[in-house]
Amino acid sequence: MRIGGSVLGDPPSAGLVNGYSEVVSDLNYEGNYVAVVVGGGGIAREYIKSAAQMGLSPYQQDTVAIHASRLNARLVAMKLGGVSSVPTSIDGMLQRLARNRVAVMGGLKPGITTDTVAAIVAERWKADLLVKASDQSGIYTEDPRANKKAKKLDRINYEKAKQILGGAHRPGIHSIVDPVAVDRLLESRMKLIVLNGADPKGVIRAVHGEKVGTLVT
Ligand code: UTP
Repeated sequence: MRIGGSVLGDPPSAGLVNGYSEVVSDLNYEGNYVAVVVGGGGIAREYIKSAAQMGLSPYQQDTVAIHASRLNARLVAMKLGGVSSVPTSIDGMLQRLARNRVAVMGGLKPGITTDTVAAIVAERWKADLLVKASDQSGIYTEDPRANKKAKKLDRINYEKAKQILGGAHRPGIHSIVDPVAVDRLLESRMKLIVLNGADPKGVIRAVHGEKVGTLVT
């Protein structure tokens, strides 16, 4: 599960973190292993802005944003499992997931976003499903913030997703799924559901196979 930083708020809303904590408990109870990748949200973007204004490189801008996502991830991890550290490598994340049936991490390295981190974790774990809890109800024909007439898509394939979401990485990019992640997921053919993260219970509906958000296959 990938929780958008823009969904959690700045700082993360206690109600939402509590809601996601319940969802993870329910999914664990049903026998699922849950990997949670948390983004840096508006605070990450503010750090990127300051770093850019100081003349720091895109690599350095990404680096401070990664720390913001790890701070959010630590908060979520504390609520979920009482652990106060978060893995900073994919191997560390997978080990913790195997041991605890739940693991939380934030960013990994410059040049990507936590969408790509979630894609890598899902591929390495051979997950059945990747859910992105976003600040939109799914993937639209075009960016709904730019064009009010954009229509939400219930189901698309990765080729179509690449057409809509393709592009290149830049620090602070705010795409419903980042273009680097779309490329990876296209390659691995990971099943992805993008849904509105304002209601954490949507993730349970997605896992149960109910129609919610946009299904990408
Ligand atoms: P996030 O992936 O933390 O964004 O990336 P978010 O807040 O959850 O975004 P939404 O809600 O999906 O829109 C924020 C920035 O952090 C850096 C990049 O600059 C990215 O744009 N980042 C994050 C990395 O460089 N590497 C990472 O592994 C993660």
